[in-house]
This record gives sequence, structure tokens and C-alpha cells, in this order.
Amino acid sequence: MNAPLQLHINGQRKRLSVAPSSLLLTVLREQCQLTGTHQGCDTAQCGACTVLVDGAAVKSCNRLAVQCSGQHITTIEGVAPNASDLHVMQQCFSKHHALQCGFCTPGLIMRALAMVHEDVPAQEQAVRHALSGNLCRCTGYEGIVLAVCEGLRLLRASPSLA
Ligand code: FES
Ligand code: FES
Repeated sequence: MNAPLQLHINGQRKRLSVAPSSLLLTVLREQCQLTGTHQGCDTAQCGACTVLVDGAAVKSCNRLAVQCSGQHITTIEGVAPNASDLHVMQQCFSKHHALQCGFCTPGLIMRALAMVHEDVPAQEQAVRHALSGNLCRCTGYEGIVLAVCEGLRLLRASPSLA
């Protein structure tokens, strides 16, 4: 039987009705139509489904929606400052050609945004390690690592943009 659930998604309060077994990923994609959060492996390995839950990167295929009651969820649809501008981290991905098919990109961006507030130096090896839970089949990671390093530097220098 479904139960009521309240989430704050991309700054808006959402009242939902979900089954106790529903994954956060499923609720975001199927009830909220936030399909930028991608479904890849479904086994908590690829990171394509990564979102922010109260600012921390979470693989939404590995979290029950009811576990997030009252929490603040940010998806890729909620990061840009407005309809015509990209977020700084998105700009860095574009600048460094850090995507090809783009399937992994929302999850990588969300993981990178969580890193802004973590103790992760904006250096290649540290960033590669921090991104080890997010897989990309296309790019070889070179551009991704460059983009995240630059994004971390810019966002830490201007916290209001994070
Ligand atoms: S779909 Fe969640 S980690 Fe792959
Ligand atoms: S850009 Fe294709 S999977 Fe990463």
C-alpha cells in the first residue's frame, strides 16, 4: 500500500504517494518526470543515477524514496541558474569536451557538485579517485577530470555560484 511522502525537489515541496519499496530513482523519473537522472546499472555501480540528498551525492537506485522523507533533493534539472544559462560546472564540462553520448553526464555533474563541499583537492589524482563510482563508456575521463578540477576551483573561489 502506498504511503504519503514529502520531498523538497529542486527547491519545490512535493507531496507524493509512494510504495515503501519504491526507489528514489523511480520516483524521480516516473512520478516527477525528472528523467535527467539516468537509470544505468541499477546495482549502485555506474553512478548515472546520482543526485544530491541534503547536499551529499547519493546513487538514487540504491536509496528508497521513503528514506528521504523531508530531505532536499537536487537533480540535474535543478542546477542551472535559469533557463538560458548553464551552471559553472556544466560550462566546464562543455569547455573541456567532457561528454560524448552524455548518458553519464548528469550523474558526474551531481557527483562533482557534492565534491565542492568535500575535502577533495582540485587535482587530477584526487578527482579521479573521487569520481571512481561514476563510470563513463565514451570519453576516457581526460576531459571529465579537467572539467571537474576547473569547476572545483571556480566554485570554491565563488561560493555563491555553487
Ligand atoms: S543506475 Fe544507479 S549506480 Fe547505476
Ligand atoms: S559520455 Fe557516454 S557514457 Fe559518458
